[in-house]
Amino acid sequence: MTDREVLDTPLFETAITRLFGIRHPILCGGLMWLADGRYVAAAVNAGGMGFITARTFADFDAFRAELRLCAELTGGKPFGVNLFISGRAEENAVLDRYVDILLDEGVRLIETAGNTPEAYLPRLKQAGCTVIHKVSAVRHGLRAEKAGVHALAIVGQECGGHPGLHFVGTMVQGALAARAFRVPYALGGGIGCGQQLVAALGLGADAIVMGSRMTVATEIWAHADYKRKVLETSEADSRLVMASFRNTYRCLDNAAARTVAELEAAGERDFALYMPHVRGSNAREAYATGDWERGILSMGQSAAFADEIKPVAAIFAEILRDAAAARDRMDAMRPAPGATSRTAAAGAR
Ligand SMILES: Cc1cc2nc3c(=O)[nH]c(=O)nc-3n(C[C@H](O)[C@H](O)[C@H](O)COP(=O)(O)O)c2cc1C
Repeated sequence: MTDREVLDTPLFETAITRLFGIRHPILCGGLMWLADGRYVAAAVNAGGMGFITARTFADFDAFRAELRLCAELTGGKPFGVNLFISGRAEENAVLDRYVDILLDEGVRLIETAGNTPEAYLPRLKQAGCTVIHKVSAVRHGLRAEKAGVHALAIVGQECGGHPGLHFVGTMVQGALAARAFRVPYALGGGIGCGQQLVAALGLGADAIVMGSRMTVATEIWAHADYKRKVLETSEADSRLVMASFRNTYRCLDNAAARTVAELEAAGERDFALYMPHVRGSNAREAYATGDWERGILSMGQSAAFADEIKPVAAIFAEILRDAAAARDRMDAMRPAPGATSRTAAAGAR
């Protein structure tokens, strides 16, 4: 089958494919500085869902222009916006304006992350939005569920970006979420291949959410030197920083991250000393110039699955082919009726 045929053939129908009206249970989570209209449109056109990351844009007009570009590239198909809710109230002053604009432009799919979305839900829901809230702990998911989100995403400690404070692995999060959540949920953190998609659905998830694996997509605007670095990155090449400020990041193990880790190891509490290394604009410059030693660049263990710079559609097709093979493998393990355990074991290989 060609990539297009693979993408056109639904493999799994889940509560999230139905909720978002998508062909495949694959979500591309918000990516600060990187998830723009072109990337998100590619995820949508490949049959998944992506979220334009609102805080990425220098001003509101640029945000609006990006939404329009995405609508044009998807031919009017729905796409999402990521709203990161900060723990610092003053940083959330801009969110209402983002909401004005996205509603005005017809966006109705929202990924919230960070702090609780409670304050934003009444307005979003009244406008007919579907909201998926991303958490790194089951108890935060339960709070958002009570507040009325339509779906949840839960990530394990393997994830790029914010893995939370307790470093619970994706395998554990996925199974606990199945027991705890009543709304559909996506599972993320270290997921970058089709076998893991099947495993996530087996655990009880209704979709996967990916970030790190996608950073080498052709449609990601970042410099080729950055993408080449990600291609070289193994599952052991990320680092946890800023845990001492209760704001942990899993990021690329680069010069900036090592400097921050040294400050933390020395017990330094003065945030001003961290600022030159952690400020967000450093990351934007790193993506623009390819100087990946600069900035705290969110990156998780699933970067190990990135082995080629290729379009989002080709990455999805690879994941779906592997998922189909994994599903077939599971099917082949089903013992024939009446088989003894010994004959069933012989037939499984
Ligand atoms: C480079 C990068 C930037 C990210 N920026 C954001 C962001 O701005 N908002 C957000 O909600 N999640 C962000 N994330 C997290 C992803 O949306 C997703 O939850 C996570 O990457 C899933 O784990 P994975 O990296 O193992 O695939 C980012 C992740 C990466 C790798």
